[in-house]
Amino acid sequence: MSVLKSTLDTASEQFTGATEAMNTKLAEIDAEHSKALLGGGEKYVARHKKRGKLLARERIELLIDEDSAFLELCPLAAWGSDFPVGASTVMGIGVVCGVECLIVANDPTVRGGASNPWTLKKGFRGNDIATQNRLPVISLVESGGADLPTQKEVFIPGGRMFRDLTQLSAAGIPTIALVFGNSTAGGAYIPGMSDHVVMIKEQSKVFLAGPPLVKMATGEDSDDESLGGAEMHARKSGLADYFAVDEQDAIRIGRSIVSRLNWKKKGPEPRAEIIEPLADPEDLLGIVPTDLKIPFDPREVIARIVDGSDFDEFKPMYGGSLVTGWAELHGYPIGILANARGVLFSEESQKATQFIQLANRSNTPLLFLHNTTGYMVGKEYEEGGMIKHGSMMINAVSNSTVPHISILLGASYGAGHYGMCGRAFDPRFLFAWPSSKSAVMGGAQLAGVISIVGRAAAEARGQAFDAEADAGMRAMIEAQIEAESLPMFLSGRLYDDGVIDPRDTRTVVGMCLSAIASAPIEGTANFGVFRM
Ligand code: COA
Repeated sequence: MSVLKSTLDTASEQFTGATEAMNTKLAEIDAEHSKALLGGGEKYVARHKKRGKLLARERIELLIDEDSAFLELCPLAAWGSDFPVGASTVMGIGVVCGVECLIVANDPTVRGGASNPWTLKKGFRGNDIATQNRLPVISLVESGGADLPTQKEVFIPGGRMFRDLTQLSAAGIPTIALVFGNSTAGGAYIPGMSDHVVMIKEQSKVFLAGPPLVKMATGEDSDDESLGGAEMHARKSGLADYFAVDEQDAIRIGRSIVSRLNWKKKGPEPRAEIIEPLADPEDLLGIVPTDLKIPFDPREVIARIVDGSDFDEFKPMYGGSLVTGWAELHGYPIGILANARGVLFSEESQKATQFIQLANRSNTPLLFLHNTTGYMVGKEYEEGGMIKHGSMMINAVSNSTVPHISILLGASYGAGHYGMCGRAFDPRFLFAWPSSKSAVMGGAQLAGVISIVGRAAAEARGQAFDAEADAGMRAMIEAQIEAESLPMFLSGRLYDDGVIDPRDTRTVVGMCLSAIASAPIEGTANFGVFRM
């Protein structure tokens, strides 16, 4: 046992200021989450309820095991776009009859549940999560199909949704569709491509074309029910495997399908007895300073998220700006890489590379805690081989086959974001704290670089440099980059799986590790050529 001792001064001005700032940011994020909770707004929610239908979240609540947690994913998708926050779906990991499943529910109160470009991106992310972690998929379908005004961005890429579903099935991962309402045109292939299909009496409507289009195409007169109703599909077409009498019945049948999958997780079991962290998780609110230039000790975070605050540090006296070590979280073994003083040097890069190799030898998942401004620049460091050492770390991260989870605590800038397993490096899950920021570099630095380049270009052309215009440009660019580096903006673009309350980190990572253990965990010895 190497129990971390906290030296956090919770009475300090820095801690109280940081806590206050974090609470403000959490309130802002909560306000955005509330927008997703409201779906399409009061009018459409009331109309939906008046029709005697359950809301998307109510359907999920009834589907998952009583009092079990639901790990919602990408709730801020589409934030900052022309489409409502949440992207017309509710998606997450929930436990159904003891089986962790990926659940995706259309929200029919948002523009008829139609799929816009962000709905697709969110759905694809869900399919990736299901594939990588071997999670059965349950689709709660009620959608007007493609969002017609944006069809140019939906129609062609949207085909992947159906390809993914059948490839999941081919990989032995069950897919279940519970059809609560409309599932038209392309949407008809959701039940069409699923292993198990439940339809609801006088409520499910599944057809390639609705009555008006059929009339136009063939002149045939038809109605919704005879063309694509549950009874027709259960008795005649055979597309429905189960005929439910109402929504509750469909959910009951969905649960019984899962209970008969004979599903077994293929990863390791967690340790039976779990010790909670000894340090208080409430303090996680005040650890990241408001000014991200001020460093903080990530051991204070580790002490508040791992079992018993027990952490065996690897190479503690070498490459001090990256903390590496072994711990357990909710009974699952993990290796942790956490930035300590922002910049990554050659030593840190080599230490990370060795650590990642070791984790692959022992089939241990890795947790990356980001607070980095990137790899060190400058003549001395270039000469010292900074590029090749940083590349070693990126090589190790890219080719490592144990599951990775990334949490952005503070800064996540430049190639440091890559080396710490940023989004493009396919961590199984990536969440951000409200205090985090991510961009190619800081706004001031980026504006400064543009200014220096602009000044040199003006000189080369023999033009006078307009200092006033340059100052205006710098201020504008700095503000733009700052706004684009904030978690709400990045979450809206699906560059993370959600912005979380720091106090929930242990629970969220624990749920991820449990979901990850649905698939086998196997490390590799195969890395790219390491430059020496
Ligand atoms: N694309 C864009 N917007 C859509 C849409 C779609 N596919 N389907 C519905 N909407 C919009 C509607 O225009 C309406 O907007 P408004 O309230 O601003 O007027 C809103 O969503 C709600 O639609 P509404 O028809 O009032 O809801 P409903 O619950 O009574 O019916 C549907 C829902 C899905 C049955 C019905 O809207 C429909 O048939 N849509 C077209 C389905 C289709 O043919 N899709 C083919 C796609 S490939």
